Amino acid sequence: MLPKIFVTREIPVDGMQLLESIGNIDIHKGKRPVSQEELVRGVKGADALCCMLTDQVSKEVVGAASHLRIVANMAVGIDNIDISACTEKGIVVTNTPGVLTDATADLAWALLMAVSRRIIEGDHYVRAGKFTGWDPVLLLGGDFCGKNLGIVGMGRIGQAVARRGRGFGMNIIYHSRNRLPEDIEDGLGATYLPLEKLVCEADYLTLHLPYYSEVHHLIDRQKLRMMKPTAYLINTARGAHVDERALLEHLKAGRIAGAALDVYEREPQLTAGLADLDTVVLAPHMGSASASTRRRMAQMVAKDVEAVLNDKRPTYAVNPDVYG
Ligand code: GLV
Ligand code: GLV
Repeated sequence: MLPKIFVTREIPVDGMQLLESIGNIDIHKGKRPVSQEELVRGVKGADALCCMLTDQVSKEVVGAASHLRIVANMAVGIDNIDISACTEKGIVVTNTPGVLTDATADLAWALLMAVSRRIIEGDHYVRAGKFTGWDPVLLLGGDFCGKNLGIVGMGRIGQAVARRGRGFGMNIIYHSRNRLPEDIEDGLGATYLPLEKLVCEADYLTLHLPYYSEVHHLIDRQKLRMMKPTAYLINTARGAHVDERALLEHLKAGRIAGAALDVYEREPQLTAGLADLDTVVLAPHMGSASASTRRRMAQMVAKDVEAVLNDKRPTYAVNPDVYG
């Protein structure tokens, strides 16, 4: 009998085709994420689960699975999955690291430039027919060259952002759970700082760390207060890294220059008032959203499902300890 694969969203076609060739697909169609009930129902009797970062693969979901062998998350972040519950049941969890590094760094960069150089405001201004000619003081924004780019989380994505910053003549300062080896720091021209010092010195503070409970509200009211009034916050990592209500207050009071967000604390909901501010740029969680990146992510997911259903080890296991 063909294995059953539960897929929680339509993924790019290359991935879908491979999945269809290896098992019976049960797919949740439509433009909204699965509900918890649908997820619990879907994993019952499934051999493989292909899920999205919007799906909470909780203890309850894992408990409902009778012979699930793999949870393949089409994301690099795995904070939506109860990894230890999976490991306990011998279920391997996979993600999609590496392929989305440049796309995500590009988006962080696009947001950083958009908020500082007021691209969205400029676009609205032109479309509204307000552009009547060059103006010496119209929409003045920030600089990049010579400014401090403060990176929190110096994994693959953080390093890719550092390289972009170097290209713009910025000083790279960073904080990370693990300090980089000296030769890599030298290659990036990056200086390690304790988090509080980094927050004080950054002209642009950009977040590139994974989410886990210890870093909940890493950027809280106190850290926001430490930021320069001319500084910008960019978040393309996970919304809960930032106390969004405190951020809103700081933005409203003009205590920081602006923020550009791709992720939200209560995604997809926004803190009321955020969308009313001209000093923020808001994107709908699209860090990895280039056509080729999403295609490759779907292929990685499908290939790892194929491997596991053929009794082979997947390439991107995040809990390889299931194999003892
Ligand atoms: C996107 O947020 C991802 O984790 O891949
Ligand atoms: C990206 O793939 C990262 O883990 O930083």
